[in-house]
Amino acid sequence: MTAAPAETCDFRFPDGFLWGAATAAHQIEGSPLADGAGPSIWTRFAHTPGMMLNGDTGDVACDHYRRWREDVALMKSLGLQAYRFSVSWSRVLPEGTGRVNPKGLDFYSRLVDALLENGIEPLLTLYHWDLPAALDDRGGWLNRDCADWFAEYASVLYRALDGRVKTWVTLNEPWVITDGGYLHGALAPGHRSRYEAPIASHNLMRAHGAAVQAYRALGRHRIGLVVNIEPKYPASDSAADAAATRRAHAYMNEQYLHPALLGHYPPELKEIFGDAWPDWPAEDFALIRQPLDFVGINYYTRSVTRAQESYPLNAGAVRQPQSTYTETGWEVYPQALTELLLWFRRTYGEIPVYITENGAAFYDPPQARIEEDGRRRVRDPLRIDYLHRHLRAVHAAIQAGVDVRGYMLWSLLDNLEWSLGYSKRFGMVHVNYATQERTPKDSALWYAKVIASHGRSLADPLPD
Ligand code: BGC
Repeated sequence: MTAAPAETCDFRFPDGFLWGAATAAHQIEGSPLADGAGPSIWTRFAHTPGMMLNGDTGDVACDHYRRWREDVALMKSLGLQAYRFSVSWSRVLPEGTGRVNPKGLDFYSRLVDALLENGIEPLLTLYHWDLPAALDDRGGWLNRDCADWFAEYASVLYRALDGRVKTWVTLNEPWVITDGGYLHGALAPGHRSRYEAPIASHNLMRAHGAAVQAYRALGRHRIGLVVNIEPKYPASDSAADAAATRRAHAYMNEQYLHPALLGHYPPELKEIFGDAWPDWPAEDFALIRQPLDFVGINYYTRSVTRAQESYPLNAGAVRQPQSTYTETGWEVYPQALTELLLWFRRTYGEIPVYITENGAAFYDPPQARIEEDGRRRVRDPLRIDYLHRHLRAVHAAIQAGVDVRGYMLWSLLDNLEWSLGYSKRFGMVHVNYATQERTPKDSALWYAKVIASHGRSLADPLPD
């Protein structure tokens, strides 16, 4: 990555730039089996002893499945203009294909109506990691048929909601799905195989392509892919570190964007996976490479990379002693967000971009504090600082000409941080898990001002 241009102080964002927040179904909804829903791989994984920190599960989560009206009112009170959420596939199709569960579909239909009534634009993600368990029983993402399954599920939603939802996402972070779910096993379905990971990746991309194709037949608005990007910087000038950085960058940042936008994989993947990297049928790339209306980028951190023995990358990260790290151990490094947006445009061209996730877990207490005037309050200055610096970094990229259309803060609510359970709080709204009481943290009140000023308040000093 090359250096970012210097920032200017006039924080003018383009007209129509959308300010919002993001969540995902399994992380907030709870009631995973309510109203005829089928189990997902996350319901299973969470109920397998030893997989989740503290034995946490998504059975209750933020109880959003029952409190969604209150949550929409909360969004409205903060002035959110957009809300990115995901649909649970097995609520809508309990067996993954075939029979539609009207009650499951209806939940999302009512949510979308409520958002629109409150002037909040819905951004709908079709897949945020919760594959129907019934499809996992048929091989899940390792089965080539998954492209047809996914297109069938997507089409049910296009038919039901495209009149009201104008921004659609196929997959959230295919890299995490395969690295966590099929290579290292820390996420559902918990497999650990160098041979399976490339197959799952490739099939996810085929499914993405099939869902975009189906959208062109049935939908009338916008569809795109969401990837997580973690810029890689070499730890030294050595040739070994340069090569490790290149491998890590190809593996994490190019593995999905290259086939989706350029129609081929980066050559380093063969080097990384060796005999586990198959020769893919050429026609697959015609399916995978579909014209996209936008790309969503999730950015949290960078990594300073050095050559070291690790499976299968042979690259590792070096901690930066002068930097701040979040509760998840991620370095706070906003400049990389500007740099990655410039890299994206150089590499893939003039495709509109949304920041579909950005945010940080810092320690917040389990209960909000009661102030002298009786108000509940959660002070989170580190999160405000993080958001402030990252929004300025987005602005710098816009100034440099990158077509960024919106910013979705991760996350609206504290929620289930996957296998880390409820131990990490990413929300701008605090959730007391004992009572389900929501309290906007200071960061939410700060973000509300940023939204109300369309970014201009980013020039102001930070609150104490
Ligand atoms: C995911 C979210 C997750 C967040 C923080 C992203 O990888 O899309 O579901 O909670 O990062 O780890």
